[in-house]
Amino acid sequence: MKRYGLGLVFVWTAVILISLAWNIQQVRKTIRRLAVKEARTHFRKDLAIRFWATAHGGVYVPSNERTPPNPHLAGLPERDIKTPLGRSLTLMNPAYMLRQMMDEYSELYGVKGRITSLKPFRAENGPDPWEKSALEAFDRGTREVFEFVNIGDKPYLRLIQPMVTEEGCLKCHGEQGYRVGDIRGGVGVSVPMSSYLIHERKEINQLAVSHALIFLTGMGGIFLGFRKLNFYFAQRILAEEKSEHAARRMEHLLFSLPVCIAVIDYETRRILDVNPQALALFGCSQDQLIGKICTDHICPATENNCPIIDYKLTLDQSEREIITHDGSRVPVLKTGIITEIDGKKVILECFIDITDKNLAEKELIEKEKLQVVLEVAGGVCHEFNQPLQVISGYCELLLNDKSLDRNAESFIRIIGDEASRMAALTKNLTNLTQYETKPYLGSKIADITGNSGEEDPKEG
Ligand code: HEC
Repeated sequence: MKRYGLGLVFVWTAVILISLAWNIQQVRKTIRRLAVKEARTHFRKDLAIRFWATAHGGVYVPSNERTPPNPHLAGLPERDIKTPLGRSLTLMNPAYMLRQMMDEYSELYGVKGRITSLKPFRAENGPDPWEKSALEAFDRGTREVFEFVNIGDKPYLRLIQPMVTEEGCLKCHGEQGYRVGDIRGGVGVSVPMSSYLIHERKEINQLAVSHALIFLTGMGGIFLGFRKLNFYFAQRILAEEKSEHAARRMEHLLFSLPVCIAVIDYETRRILDVNPQALALFGCSQDQLIGKICTDHICPATENNCPIIDYKLTLDQSEREIITHDGSRVPVLKTGIITEIDGKKVILECFIDITDKNLAEKELIEKEKLQVVLEVAGGVCHEFNQPLQVISGYCELLLNDKSLDRNAESFIRIIGDEASRMAALTKNLTNLTQYETKPYLGSKIADITGNSGEEDPKEG
């Protein structure tokens, strides 16, 4: 986030700087173009004057100190003439005219002009090094040379264009060997740049200010935008954390429920997920269960007879068996419902191990059975007691009778003894019903002799 912010600030700064640089460049170009245009205008005006003068073969002006006769025209027969009233006139050649104009009126516009040649008629018209190289360039075909330079400590635009020899020029320059079309020399103008530069500086300042304002506005926008984004992201992270927390809590709940859970794909009947409780019951790892066909592990009896998939029940609640990893079968109470997870139709199976519950039920039934037996036995004992006492009583009475023979007496004694043995047995049996004995599984006969097998076996 912070990185993006810095990146954006960087890009924005770069855009503004590039725009500023480009605009400054543009202003500079325009200013220079304007200056060049001004120089050319001056140049054309000079050209027009020169053409005009050449067309007239020079111009006669009153000769005086300011305009002495041109010594370079001494060879011409009519250099100096007199008017009918006696005023003396002298011929001004175009270069002379221009030079005078340039010298005297340069102050007017601040634009300085100069006329020069590589082979000057007049020594003062000889070129300076800059003009010399420009003139040489003209000989090679260049039509214009300009440069921004400092003259003294002031900035100037120097521009020079060639002067081509024409028919009219030959009148005076013919003897120098020039022919029509030759480069006779050049006219140069120097345009002072200070007013342009002041203007340029102003424009650049305006550009800088406007760019600074745009830059700051953009930065403000970036700052506000990122603050808002930050807020939004913080909010989202918070929401995500919340939902993650909720999901974790849900997962924790699901996984800590004391119930085995398995998720089965409705279409493929394959196990998609199981919880740790189920793994513990199956006694294997997740990898060993996931992807397997459900009936190989859960309710094997319903292969292709699934109440939900094959018989279209929406809910199945029943006692079934699962096959653990070591192959043993464990009874479970199972509920299966159809639901959807991640857009997939699945069966959610919940089951609990009911082995202990079944055992306890069995024990209870056994106990109840035993209870009935014991109660019946108690009743029988009670009913047996009376006839036994009657038998014992009559045996006593018979034994008191002295008239019995010895044989009969011993028989009666045996009857009496057996009757008391039976009485003892029934008494033991009655006692057995009175205390809660541990029920024995499997078939074992209850020991009702009370001596747990230590009793002597009776003879006969
Ligand atoms: C009436 C005669 C005359 C005519 C026409 C004339 N010039 Fe000149 N030109 C001169 C004289 C004289 C000079 C010498 C210096 C001065 O007077 O400044 C001169 C000077 C020059 C110079 C300055 C360098 C130097 O040699 O001193 C140039 C360049 C020049 N002329 C070009 C031309 C061209 C191009 C034409 C035709 C369009 C032309 N001139 C027509 C007389 C003439």
